[in-house]
Amino acid sequence: MLIAGNWKMNGLAGEAAALARQLGDAVSGEPASSAAPMVVFPPALHIGLIAPLLAESGIGLGGQDCHAEESGAHTGDIAAEMLADLGCDWVLVGHSERRTDHGETDSAIRAKAEAGIRAGLRVMLCVGETLDQRQVGAAETVVAEQLLQSLPAKMDASGLAIAYEPVWAIGSGLVPSMEEIADMHQLIRKTLGQHGKGLEKTPILYGGSVKPSNAAAILGLEGVDGALVGGASLKAEDFLAIRAAASVS
Ligand code: PGA
Repeated sequence: MLIAGNWKMNGLAGEAAALARQLGDAVSGEPASSAAPMVVFPPALHIGLIAPLLAESGIGLGGQDCHAEESGAHTGDIAAEMLADLGCDWVLVGHSERRTDHGETDSAIRAKAEAGIRAGLRVMLCVGETLDQRQVGAAETVVAEQLLQSLPAKMDASGLAIAYEPVWAIGSGLVPSMEEIADMHQLIRKTLGQHGKGLEKTPILYGGSVKPSNAAAILGLEGVDGALVGGASLKAEDFLAIRAAASVS
């Protein structure tokens, strides 16, 4: 189980530091138990501030995006190496907000995933269908296609996690039925198996309106290996409650 928090473009420096401190305090002194590991994806500008605050906590740190190149004339962009240099363990790629706001294609996302691997980061690759696509019965085809087109050729399960995030469930309070989530996770598992050897054990997280009240049901589903949490990750209490649900399910 892995519980990931995507802070998106939220929080000024003081708020981000306070949230990181709350999470760090909550886990400090915790017995090395079966509690689910956590990773947070703060806005890139706050990573340098937060890295030392989480350094001793065991809470992972990641960037929300990276550029495919290592350096160069790409104004406003951030290289995966820069994330690693500041202490990140992870990079998120292919989030639907990046696909929509920045027109990111599957091949651009694959290049970013490759950059993450090059920099020694673990890659969390997001996939998910829109409501229209689900309503016309195309959800599984869309997700399988996104996966096959955006996974780097050389990838192994230890460096990868998939986040299944139906676009219509993100920030909407809507959640697919438990059966729909379980079916999609099964499809993703099967597609990973087709992609190449060694990906069978890749963790597959669910994301989209996960909150303390629905976390136990979602995390208890067969084939769900964790959650990628947006809105509810901005409140330490809610994020920790979701993690607690992971530990008992
Ligand atoms: P949400 O966002 O939990 O606010 O729905 C999830 C995500 O976009 O990662």
